[in-house]
Amino acid sequence: MPFAGRDLVSITDFSNDEIEAVLDLADQMDTALKERRDIDLCKGKDMATLFYEPSTRTRGSFERAMHKLGGTVISFAEAKAMSSAAKGETIADTVRVLKSYADIIVIRHPWEGAAKVAADYSEVPVINAGDGSHEHPTQTLCDLYTLRKEKGKLKGLTVLLWGDLKYGRTVHSLIYALARFGAEVICAPLQGLDLPSAVLRRIGSEYNYVPERVKPDDTKSLTGDVDAFYIAPFRPYNLALWSDVDSGPCPEANVREALGRADAIYVTRVQAERRNTEGATEMADEYPIVDSAFLRRLRKKTLVMHPLPRVNELAYELDEYPTSVYFRQAAYGVPVRMALTALLLGASKIEFPDKGGSPEEEAAYATYHQAVGISCPNPNCVSNRESRYLAPRMHMLNRQVGEPLILRCAYCDHEIQPPYIASSEWHQGILKYKKYYSSDSFMVDRIRPQNLVMFGSEREARELGFMPGKRTARRRGGDTS
Ligand code: NCD
Repeated sequence: MPFAGRDLVSITDFSNDEIEAVLDLADQMDTALKERRDIDLCKGKDMATLFYEPSTRTRGSFERAMHKLGGTVISFAEAKAMSSAAKGETIADTVRVLKSYADIIVIRHPWEGAAKVAADYSEVPVINAGDGSHEHPTQTLCDLYTLRKEKGKLKGLTVLLWGDLKYGRTVHSLIYALARFGAEVICAPLQGLDLPSAVLRRIGSEYNYVPERVKPDDTKSLTGDVDAFYIAPFRPYNLALWSDVDSGPCPEANVREALGRADAIYVTRVQAERRNTEGATEMADEYPIVDSAFLRRLRKKTLVMHPLPRVNELAYELDEYPTSVYFRQAAYGVPVRMALTALLLGASKIEFPDKGGSPEEEAAYATYHQAVGISCPNPNCVSNRESRYLAPRMHMLNRQVGEPLILRCAYCDHEIQPPYIASSEWHQGILKYKKYYSSDSFMVDRIRPQNLVMFGSEREARELGFMPGKRTARRRGGDTS
């Protein structure tokens, strides 16, 4: 598919070939920048940068990228306070206006799914520069560019993800990309800041990654206060190595060995600004510091990466190490974002063979579009924050008979297991057929997916005129309100 006119909301919007194509063009941009050659590919084009959250690197490098391409920038650096959002304007209306001032829109917003809404309502390409704790795909392009430049390849690397993996949006985009490129990923989250279950499930169901957890006690001596666990590609030898790790004879040796394989450690800060949500309290003081003593557990050649800004989690003594690449990683933001912008604006064209369905396309899920029932469980999802014009949009994950029914929000990727279901085909003119059932009863396999109606509680079902059916009682506990 050509790049021109497309959006980049999630890193999974691009195939591996497309990602490599962006990085190849970034190499050319980097050379041209170093040679101080004029690159006027985007002369006459305008970029709007709409930032509702603070930014130094992302906005700075997007704006510099556009200037270097010969284009101009309309900058809303404090969009929350200084754009019409302060007067209550919705994201949809703001982008509908901006699209007539700009040829491309770069948006950063504190709500998960905001970039998707912008893309849905804009006729010009929209780039997600970070939406809440959801994704940050252009940071991932910079991370992959750094890995490829420093390690010469993207396939088959071992990367240790460190810190706040729950709220760190850069990590979420990066782990999808690493999984796509077949990396071994080691996760070392601080206690309570594990990868969200939806991210874990997705890398399992779409990329066959099987997470194996190591008890924190077994890793303390190696990793301090982090709650280390492993995610390995679904390959027999990896399974054999990790599947029994909880009960195995020497998990510590496994952890030590895995740390010794790492090509890169990707350190993240505590996303303190997202702390108002559950689980993320009082953690800054306990946050383990990656310093020279810790690095001795890794290989000499292990790259130290960080999306920046750093707070206390990365010792300054590492700055002089040749393997510390975080400032280079930030500098690569300019050529990478030049390449992306030129491609989406159609100013650079790259032809490459379309190798067919991506894992995401193959996994294509049915959309739940009943007018009633379930809404996104994430209070920070744009569908809840801007519910005056956005209806919940959910994908029904593919399931085998007997597996739980799971919906994934199309905006923020949060998942929900709806406790109660009914069929929209209840009526047949007979009111007594208007019944609801437990979603873990066999009725879930009787009702055709396109007819499923789902409820968050029994009360909700009753309010909509449904009566309890024979199979309403839930087998595994659950809501009875
Ligand atoms: C990141 C972000 O905004 O998510 N910063 C960046 O864009 N380089 C990481 C962070 O803020 O911790």
